[in-house]
Amino acid sequence: MVEKQKVIMDCDPGHDDAFALMLAIQHLDVLGITTIGGNCSLENVTANALKILEVIERPDIGVYPGHSRPLSSELVTAPQFHGESGMDGPVLPEPKIKAQNTHAVDFIVETLKSTDDVIIIPTAPLTNIAAALNRAPEIASRIKEICLMGGSVTFGNWTPAAEFNIFVDPEAAYRVFNSGVPIKMAGVNFTRQCAITETHRDRIMMIPTKTAKFAAELIDFFMNASKEAAYLSVATLHDACAAAWVINSELVTSVPMRIDIELKGEYTRGMTVCDYRHLRCEDPEIDLSNHPTMKFRGRNPNAEGALRLDFTGFMGLLYETLRNYP
Ligand code: RIB
Ligand code: CA
Repeated sequence: MVEKQKVIMDCDPGHDDAFALMLAIQHLDVLGITTIGGNCSLENVTANALKILEVIERPDIGVYPGHSRPLSSELVTAPQFHGESGMDGPVLPEPKIKAQNTHAVDFIVETLKSTDDVIIIPTAPLTNIAAALNRAPEIASRIKEICLMGGSVTFGNWTPAAEFNIFVDPEAAYRVFNSGVPIKMAGVNFTRQCAITETHRDRIMMIPTKTAKFAAELIDFFMNASKEAAYLSVATLHDACAAAWVINSELVTSVPMRIDIELKGEYTRGMTVCDYRHLRCEDPEIDLSNHPTMKFRGRNPNAEGALRLDFTGFMGLLYETLRNYP
């Protein structure tokens, strides 16, 4: 039997974070879940992570609370998309299981020092990851890769230029993208393709598991909130795309690029500035990495930027996953 990929999930549940967790916990070896203030307060996102584990009956996975706010700016939350609890919609009891007493940053540093080949999957502001790298820079060479939901190769979703996770803590993102750790960026240009409709929701509701019912209730709230807050007619499962990318890389078409984080721009703070001019051609799948003139301008790539999602393949993975939970 093929050994499952070891991962740490860093999240702010969060309706779409919940789907990332459900996918990762079934298909990957989740060493622990770290939480961060983002969609909602640290207290609420931590309680939501515990509630999710109780729904899928995985109380064995540790939840490690992290930072409650960005490194050097105020916390921005998203109640208009996730509600006051951070995961409005499903009615769930207060969790019986408790969060761990170890801080998220301590857990990340200690795990990476003692465990090889770990992938970190952040689906929230990058504060915990940056703090771990600041605390123990030597872990950068021990992280297999960081596959994150955040940023964008094109337009933002929180501002015209910036996606929410990066916008909340751009300094943390700057530290992560300049750490030397191999990065996969599932930006909103890509995750917007993971667009769940009423039809998908109805099909999920027909799956005879309580987890599928929970998933349908998450979609109901998230879809309505997205309609009211952003005039979207779908529920976009941004974070689930990062987990799916680690589970099955064939679901994603990406290209190598240089990604820098804008910290100063009056209109562009938090923008992921993506340089893939080496691909100035119609089809980004053409490999120009050895082309004498179309190679990277200026500096080497530090990330893979996701461009296309096999949405049908993603939905097959999601349906199968929900069927295999209680
Ligand atoms: O921009 C989308 C991201 O912001 C997702 O991680 C979502 O959960 C919110 O945190
Ligand atoms: Ca999130």
